[in-house]
Amino acid sequence: MLANLNDVLLPAQKGKYGVGLFNAVNAEMARGVIGAAEQLRSPVIVGTAEIFIKYASLENVADLLVPMARRATVPVVVHYDHGLTFEKCMEALKLGFTSVMYDCSTDSYEENVRKVAELVRIAHALGATVEAELGHVGDNEDSAEGSSDFSDPTKYYTDPAQAQDYVTGTGADALAVSVGTAHGTYKLPPKLDFERIQTIAKRIGTPLVLHGGSGLTDEDFKRAIAAGISKINVFTEINVTGAAAMRKAFDEGKTTMLELMTVQIEAIERLVKEKILLYGSANQV
Ligand code: 13P
Repeated sequence: MLANLNDVLLPAQKGKYGVGLFNAVNAEMARGVIGAAEQLRSPVIVGTAEIFIKYASLENVADLLVPMARRATVPVVVHYDHGLTFEKCMEALKLGFTSVMYDCSTDSYEENVRKVAELVRIAHALGATVEAELGHVGDNEDSAEGSSDFSDPTKYYTDPAQAQDYVTGTGADALAVSVGTAHGTYKLPPKLDFERIQTIAKRIGTPLVLHGGSGLTDEDFKRAIAAGISKINVFTEINVTGAAAMRKAFDEGKTTMLELMTVQIEAIERLVKEKILLYGSANQV
C-alpha cells in the first residue's frame, strides 16, 4: 500500500527500529526492493533523486513506482530523494510521489528554513511528507551525487540546538543529519558521531535520517538506530551489487536479458533483506 514518511517513520521511532530508503530507478531494482520488503513483512521507502533524472525521468519513475507501491502488501513510501529545486519537488508531488526531500543544505540557514517551510505547507496540503537536511552530508569521490570536500566532515555536522529551531521553523517531517557519513564508497571507514545523534534525538521529536548507508558496518547501523535514527538511505551498494551479479552471471554463460534481469533482482532482494533484518523492520507490518 502507498504510504508517506509519517506512516512508516513514526511507528519506527516508537518501536526503535529503522526503515530503509533504497533508491530504485528501474523495474529490476524496484522488484528487488519491494519483493524483499514483502517477504520480510517490512515497511520500505523507494524512490529516485534529482541526480538520477538523467537516467530515468521523474514521469518514468512515478509511472513505475506509484502503482507498484499501491499493489504492494506492505507500506511503501515513494520518495523523491535530494530534490534540489522547488520546481522538481513540485513535479514529483504532482506525479504522485508521497514524500519529497527538499535538500537546501548548501543554502544559508535562513534560506534553508524559508524554502523548506514553503514546500512543507504545499506538501502537507497534498497529504505528502517532507524530509529536509541541516548541516551537510558530504559525497565520496565515486558518489552518484558527485564529490565534495570531505576532508573535514565535522565542519558540516548538524548542530543540535540549531536542529531544534530548524524543525520548529520548517515543520519538516524528517530531518537528515550530518554525523560522519557520506554518499558513495568510503576510502577510509567512517567514524560516526553517535553521541551527536543521541543529543539531537533527545532535543527534537522529528524522526532522524542517516544518509550514506553503503559501507557502514552492522554495528554502525545498530548503534545509529539505538541512538535515534529512524530512516537509513542506501543506494551505492544496490547499484554495485546488481551490476556485479550480472557480470558474474554473464561470465558463467547466462547471456540473455531475461536471465540477467532475474539475477539482478535476486541479488538486490538478498541485499535489501540483509539490511531490513539489521534495521529491525522485519515483521513490523
Ligand atoms: P549511498 O549511495 O552512499 O548508500 O547513500 C545513499 C543516500 O544517502 C541517498 O540519499
